[in-house]
Amino acid sequence: MYKDIIIEKSQEIKDELIRIRRDIHAHPEPGRKEFRTSALVAEKLKELGLEVRTNVAETGVVATLRGKYPGKTILLRADMDSLPITEKNDVEYKSQNPGYMHACGHDAHTTWVIGAAMILSQFKDQMHGNVKFLFQPDEEIDGGADRMIKDGALENPHVDAAIGAHVWPTVESGKIGVKYGPMMAAPDHITIKIYGKAGHGAEPHNCIDPISVACQVYMSLQTLVSRRINPVEPAVVTIARITGGTTHNAIPEKVEMEGTVRTLTNELRERMPHLIENIIKGICEANNATYEFIYDPHYPAVINNSDMVALVEKAGKAILGEDGVVVTDKPTMGGEDFSYFQQKVPGAFFIVGTYNKEKGLTNSLHNPKFNIDEDIIPLAAAVLAQSALTYLNEGKCSNDTSRT
Ligand code: NI
Repeated sequence: MYKDIIIEKSQEIKDELIRIRRDIHAHPEPGRKEFRTSALVAEKLKELGLEVRTNVAETGVVATLRGKYPGKTILLRADMDSLPITEKNDVEYKSQNPGYMHACGHDAHTTWVIGAAMILSQFKDQMHGNVKFLFQPDEEIDGGADRMIKDGALENPHVDAAIGAHVWPTVESGKIGVKYGPMMAAPDHITIKIYGKAGHGAEPHNCIDPISVACQVYMSLQTLVSRRINPVEPAVVTIARITGGTTHNAIPEKVEMEGTVRTLTNELRERMPHLIENIIKGICEANNATYEFIYDPHYPAVINNSDMVALVEKAGKAILGEDGVVVTDKPTMGGEDFSYFQQKVPGAFFIVGTYNKEKGLTNSLHNPKFNIDEDIIPLAAAVLAQSALTYLNEGKCSNDTSRT
């Protein structure tokens, strides 16, 4: 049983992992500019004697641990970017980079994958196959995962499966959560521009008022999910920005709206642009207005492979105990670019609970007072290490790449 050695080792390196996490937390960097973070990561991995490739997709790092025996390759993934948020935590390792903060826990993700590398390095001589540790840039804004793949991160050696994890402030600290099937939504971005005819506010009949048209479009979009989509199929259409007009007595020429569309299946995702445009088109035509509609697809949905989830569930129970794994049946409508890896190889994304009321750690992700329970870092590292080793050495996972 590797389990006991993994647990012991993870606790042995706990202080060092917390030190690394605090160092990264104090120096948050925006997406595509993770220079300091990636240098720190690369240095640590080189110390472990891994094959390290830097500057992958600009600031990404990929390290390979080759086992003594031939076999498959499993990838453990972390993201390194922070958010443009000013930290309001009063801690000694508070952000020293004004306006930026690790408010989404990517400092923890980076650290626990380093932790998994530290643990797994001990098993090199017993390992069948390889583990790849991937640290990607820019999860938040522009899908660094996709650029990592395009820069060859899944080759040399070729990756057969992938696991990623995210801190989760609504799940109790010390537990992980797994979800079979669709887990997170495809977060697409829409822009709608409605053009009317400008003029005096006292003469609406000589104008085409784009504000009035935009309001009708906005209200009709609210019924799209409730009236056009199967009620048992999750979907979100949110308009989050409306801009138009300059003063109280002039009808403007244009109104702009921006929003997000979230779906969990490719079938519905493909229908969305058409459903939305139909509403805009019909209302604009009825009012003699014209429009421009841009549907900008972002990340695909996170759809977990059942074999891989079962692997993580089993590893989680081995490390954290039977009660340490929560199997959830509800997806979330947030997005994650881990999905790009899942489009290439079977993958599982899981959540690591960090809710701890006693320590006052209850704030949501992206909150300026978000913080994690650092005790979870070695635990997550151990779960990742256990999952990887089980995958390589017990061959519990099939080659099935179908996703359910
Ligand atoms: Ni995140």
